[in-house]
Amino acid sequence: MTFRNISKEALAGSITLGVIFIAGYVFGKKKSSRMSIIKSHCGDDPLMQYVLNHSMREHPVLKELRLRTMEHSWNIMMVACEQSQFMANLAKLIKTKKALEIGVYTGYNTLSMALALPDDGVVVACDITDDYPNIGKPFWKEAGVEKKIDLRIQPALKTLDDLLAAGEAETFDFAFIDADKVNYDNYFEKCLQLLRKGGVIAIDNVLWGGKVVNPSPDDPDTVAIDKLNKKLHRDVRINLSMLTVGDGLTLAIKL
Ligand SMILES: C[S@@+](CC[C@H](N)C(=O)[O-])C[C@H]1O[C@@H](n2cnc3c(N)ncnc32)[C@H](O)[C@@H]1O
Ligand SMILES: *[C@@H]1O[C@H](CO)[C@@H](O)[C@H](O)[C@H]1NC(C)=O
Ligand SMILES: *[C@@H]1O[C@H](CO)[C@@H](O)[C@H](O)[C@H]1NC(C)=O
Repeated sequence: MTFRNISKEALAGSITLGVIFIAGYVFGKKKSSRMSIIKSHCGDDPLMQYVLNHSMREHPVLKELRLRTMEHSWNIMMVACEQSQFMANLAKLIKTKKALEIGVYTGYNTLSMALALPDDGVVVACDITDDYPNIGKPFWKEAGVEKKIDLRIQPALKTLDDLLAAGEAETFDFAFIDADKVNYDNYFEKCLQLLRKGGVIAIDNVLWGGKVVNPSPDDPDTVAIDKLNKKLHRDVRINLSMLTVGDGLTLAIKL
């Protein structure tokens, strides 16, 4: 069974959802401030709502940032909150001090990760524009973790190359890949170099709304994701899990 029933990047869906979310938010606010049902990328599946109701322990500032992000036109790009909580738990479990976020958007997962890190931890957060991260920055500050976030605005590949050139290979514990899909394999290869043994690479959208089952040859995103999925299945440098959380999440553990 999978809880995922919305393709994260289905544009038509995203616009509809955006309208519903904003309407829901506005009306919810009007009605009462206690009306704060947690939304995720789950439509209104009651079982998914049950899961969220019984597992989310969202930091109050994360919740504020999620609600702020829901007002944004590209809100469908935001990571699923339960997936973010899972990754924060996982990062803590392996005692993460240095993390990589490839694709920040409004910085929900960046904030979640920063909150999970020790005081001397760092998230190197990569995005190509600061338009979206600028929405999240005040929330990073409000949560008191902005010092743990090293935001680098340039193509993520350049930032990963900079880190390698600075001698930071084998020093990262955790990486989350969630930017442009055609570069996924490049991100994976650079992250693998930057990770220590036992470090974890989490790769988002590996099911791409189900399109990977039958990739259309003229859809470069689906082709790139499917190609990486097939490569990882055979890759002896890692151990592997593919989870059906959110839009599909692969965990690759560096051996
Ligand atoms: C799906 S969103 C990331 C969502 C985010 N992880 C979260 O927690 O909500 C993808 C982001 O990748 C960024 N992006 C696209 N191409 C990029 C590139 N070549 N280098 C760095 N970031 C890129 C986009 O600007 C966008 O903010
Ligand atoms: C989830 O919580 C909301 C708000 O408390 C409640 O209205 C809803 O009935 C709950 N749904 C489930 C399936 O637990
Ligand atoms: C990787 O998987 C193999 C085979 O399932 C297992 O024997 C090994 O302990 C795993 N290694 C790590 C680091 O999880």
